Amino acid sequence: MKYVTIIMLLSALITANSATADAADMAKTCAACHGANGIASNSQWPNLAGQNKDYLIAQLQAFRDGSRVDPLMSPSAKSLSDQDIAALATHYASLQPAVNTAPAKLNLAGMNIRARCVSCHGMEGKPVNSQWPNINGQQQAYLAKQLTAFRDGSRHSEIMKVIVKGFSDQQIADVAEYYSQIPR
Ligand code: HEC
Ligand code: HEC
Repeated sequence: MKYVTIIMLLSALITANSATADAADMAKTCAACHGANGIASNSQWPNLAGQNKDYLIAQLQAFRDGSRVDPLMSPSAKSLSDQDIAALATHYASLQPAVNTAPAKLNLAGMNIRARCVSCHGMEGKPVNSQWPNINGQQQAYLAKQLTAFRDGSRHSEIMKVIVKGFSDQQIADVAEYYSQIPR
């Protein structure tokens, strides 16, 4: 009896100690799409560097349980344990966000729409609540794709559904471009 308890304690300790190394190792399987530094090479795919940890955990759980679906992303989340998810979220939240070079011209139409976003996403696209996503410095095509998905219901959020209801494609394109131009 005692012997089994000691083994269990030891294996728990080993798991805890190797969590950081494991996260960097696991992240290698994500790098093909999210980049080695959490900056995606394709504008359709999200940057993860500097994203809020609790938000990352919630999204990875959603991909794992199927409440959020994407043909490219879902397979990567299916076999993750709760510990894997926590370690990966800590890893990506700690990475240095993308450095945006100042855009030639801010999208002013998008900036005008910002008034409808700041109560949750903050003045600069950085919310105070870590359960909510930073949207500043995010990939432009990815932002537009998410807003469209909230509008057509293919991505579920009771809150965001209400926000984008009635948005035109042009308004989505403008606000997506604006936030992609604001440095994280
Ligand atoms: C084959 C490409 C691919 C791989 C590999 C991949 N992802 Fe993704 N990931 C995506 C795409 C594409 C999306 C956006 C899906 C959408 O449009 O809703 C995404 C979305 C996400 C999101 C949600 C981001 C947000 O802002 O809501 C997280 C978190 C994430 N991936 C983490 C990971 C982690 C961690 C791994 C490795 C275990 C990984 N991904 C592997 C393609 C990939
Ligand atoms: C009342 C609060 C609230 C307001 C206002 C709001 N959002 Fe959100 N937003 C959220 C929450 C909460 C989520 C996370 C949804 C989820 O869990 O999938 C989110 C998610 C998003 C995402 C997905 C980010 C990612 O990484 O996938 C985008 C893009 C976004 N919001 C853009 C906007 C824009 C643009 C506006 C203004 C037009 C706006 N939001 C207004 C609360 C809000």
